[in-house]
This record gives sequence, structure tokens and C-alpha cells, in this order.
Amino acid sequence: MNPKPLVLITHPLPQEWIEPLHQHCTVIVGPDNETGLSETLAGRFPEVEAILCLLCDRLTGDTLRLMPTLKVIANLAAGTDNIDLEYCRNHNVKVGKTPGVLTNATADLTMSLMLSVVRNLPEAAMAARIGEWKMWHPARWLGKDLAGATLGIYGMGEIGKAVAKRALGFEMKIIYHNRNEYAAGDLDFPAAYVSFDELLTESDILSIHAPLNEDSRYKFDITVLRQMKNDAIIINMGRGSIIRMDDLFTALQEGWIRAAGLDVTDPEPLPTTHPLFQLANCLILPHIGSATEETRARMAEMSMENILAGLAGKALPYPA
Ligand code: GLV
Repeated sequence: MNPKPLVLITHPLPQEWIEPLHQHCTVIVGPDNETGLSETLAGRFPEVEAILCLLCDRLTGDTLRLMPTLKVIANLAAGTDNIDLEYCRNHNVKVGKTPGVLTNATADLTMSLMLSVVRNLPEAAMAARIGEWKMWHPARWLGKDLAGATLGIYGMGEIGKAVAKRALGFEMKIIYHNRNEYAAGDLDFPAAYVSFDELLTESDILSIHAPLNEDSRYKFDITVLRQMKNDAIIINMGRGSIIRMDDLFTALQEGWIRAAGLDVTDPEPLPTTHPLFQLANCLILPHIGSATEETRARMAEMSMENILAGLAGKALPYPA
């Protein structure tokens, strides 16, 4: 009888999520609260056949070379920028992801972040808590109206579209910039395609939903941030390194833009000593776009399906 295939799960997941693996596989789980592939797993690399990894694990060619028996990687994420896809293509390693299921959760969080930043919720809530709320104040904690404001979407994929639809409910005007303009009738809501420069100069709130690639990496640098409206708010839901963090700090500190809301940072986690944490006009979340019970359970389910298909030599149901 063949031994059960070895599956590495890079960090602990709830038992019920990984239940389907236990019948068919030997499962080794890496440590909690440690970003990246742990040294403690390295001893098993030579015999691993499947990996379930997170977006904080970097699977570079150099690491993957240590896993000659690897058949399948299931990334518990919609993005796959943490994996050397070219290496995998060249070495017959199948790569799976979890597309689609996190669209609504991520769009909801985008609206939460946007509303929190535009209405100064962290500052106002803290003021109430520490006794700075002395009266109903007519001119403190003032935000901006969303109704009538222009929302610029950088990256009009499924998540960008879901955000646009929510924002229309708030009576915002939608503009977008994408690699390609949608043909007339392809979007089932009103949104105007604009050049990247127009996106910068016309957006009151600019929300980033693009994947990380050679085109988007560090796209929002000092030159770009300078072109935005002084009152603009920038939201990043894509990947941290789409924005140059040091340039964002300068832009926020010097008032070139009004505020920022970041669900993603560069690096992740962002060290607590990072100067962006000192700014009242920057709200930083620990990459929780897809963090709802329903969504994460579905992402785990899809990852299980990817692993079991890959181990059986079948096409992955959710390939990268
Ligand atoms: C989240 O950022 C994901 O790619 O799933």
C-alpha cells in the first residue's frame, strides 16, 4: 500500500476546515503567528506532495526547488503574487487559488474602510472613549459627504465592480481606470473610463483593487500622489507594494492628500514603529478584506478541493 501523501499546511487552520485532508493524507502544520514558511517545515520539503499556503508565504523558485515531489500548491487567497508561477509552470506544479468567493466580503470591507476614513471614525471613537467628548460639537470630527463625490477605481475587476455598485447606493459618481476599457454594455452600472492621469486628478476617493504585477508595482509613488486632489482619500485593498509607503507618508504628512485607508501594506505585517502608524489621517487594517466566517470557510473548502484534485493528478477546479 502506498503511504499517504504528505501535505504541508503552512500555518494552523480550524480543524473543521482541513477535515477532508485527514482521510487521505499525512498532514503537517506549521506554526502560528509567524509570517512566511517556517524553518520547522523545511525538513519535510523533500517528500512534500501538496502545500496549502497563505498569501504571507513566499514560494520562490529557490524554495520550490527544495520540493522535488511537489504536485500542487493551494493558495488560500484570490491573488497568487506570492508564488513563482513560472517555476511552477516549468516544473509541472499545479497552483490553485480561491477566486470569486471573496468579492462581496472585500467590497464590504472597502466600504467600511472608506466610511471610517471619510468620517474620521477611529479618531472620533477614541475621543469619546478618553473623555474628549465634552458636548455636541458643531465643528469637530468633520468628515466629507460621499453623496456627489467621485469614486475612482483603479482595477475594475470583480471586486472593483462590487465596490462601484455599493458606492452607487451612496450616490457617488464612478470613474475607473483599467488595463482595458469595458465595451459599451459590458458594465451593468454607470461608470466612466478615464486615463490614469484623469483618475488621479478627478477622484475624491481613489480605491485600489488591482492585482500586483509589473505594471502596478509601486505605481502610486511620489509623482503620482502629488497629482491627486489635496482633499482626496486613497484606499488600498489590492497589495501593499502598489503604493510606495514612504511616499504615502510624505503625501499624508505634507497634506498633498487628505487621508488614507490601507487594508494592505508593504511589508506585512507593517512594523508598529512605521511612521504611518503615527498619523491620525491614516487607518491601517491587518489585511482582513476576506475575513468573514462564511468567506474564509468557503476559501478553505476550495483549497481542499484544489489539493485533492492535484494529488489525484486531475485538473484543479480553481486554478491560478
Ligand atoms: C486577499 O488579498 C487575497 O488575495 O485573497
